[in-house]
Amino acid sequence: MTRRPLPSFWVVIPAAGVGSRMRADRPKQYLQLGGRSIIEHTLDCFLDHPTLAGVTVCIAPNDPYWPNLPCAGDPRVQRAPGGRERCDSVLNGLRRLSELGANGHDWVLVHDAARPNLAREDLDRLLLELADDSVGGLLAVPARDTLKRVGLDGRVVETVDRSVIWQAFTPQMFRLGMLRDALVGALDAAVRVTDEASALEWAGHAPKVVEGRADNLKVTRPEDLDWLEQRWGGGRVE
Ligand code: CTP
Ligand code: MG
Repeated sequence: MTRRPLPSFWVVIPAAGVGSRMRADRPKQYLQLGGRSIIEHTLDCFLDHPTLAGVTVCIAPNDPYWPNLPCAGDPRVQRAPGGRERCDSVLNGLRRLSELGANGHDWVLVHDAARPNLAREDLDRLLLELADDSVGGLLAVPARDTLKRVGLDGRVVETVDRSVIWQAFTPQMFRLGMLRDALVGALDAAVRVTDEASALEWAGHAPKVVEGRADNLKVTRPEDLDWLEQRWGGGRVE
């Protein structure tokens, strides 16, 4: 099969969260996995990619951990200030990319710092499937379990049709200008957006879902890190 060349892309890694659900002694992106911090593995998913233009990581201003990591001195990785919410961090990252020479039509992939197990084949499929898309999209996984809508009394109201429900993962891939405008618009309108796709949806666009691997999980609770640790080998889950 002849493969089309993959498009060039920038990356924004929001990494300014505190990881409250993890209940660890430090933000979860700095916890160890296979002898290195989670955020180093996350960066590794992108750094040697042949069509990478550059990376910004969004780091809280008073973060004592980031400056001690080897990747903080990597010229391909630039720092932007973290913000109050994830979307504020991402906007700061996009501004930094513009300073670095990115233009509004360039593709940007936003990927959680706490998602260290992104497979190269998923990244390449996302780039390939969205290369000519007018909106962009995201890696996502179809819901596996039977889904219930539950009332305030803790009892099932109904079973929801699973076939139309997907879990939104990252990377999420959009044009820099379109993403920035959508995030700014949603913030101005005080609409709560928890990922980039919801900002685009708010702006009237329909992001495309690209099916990815279920093990591209976001470390959220202690058991997620246990799960990854038990399977980790040679840079990702085996
Ligand atoms: N993030 C960020 N800026 C914020 C909040 C979150 O850059 N103000 C980042 C986190 O560092 C993480 C990603 O967004 O890489 C996804 O957020 P989440 O999983 O919710 O991480 P935390 O907010 O750190 O965790 P928690 O919600 O449990 O406190
Ligand atoms: Mg959070």
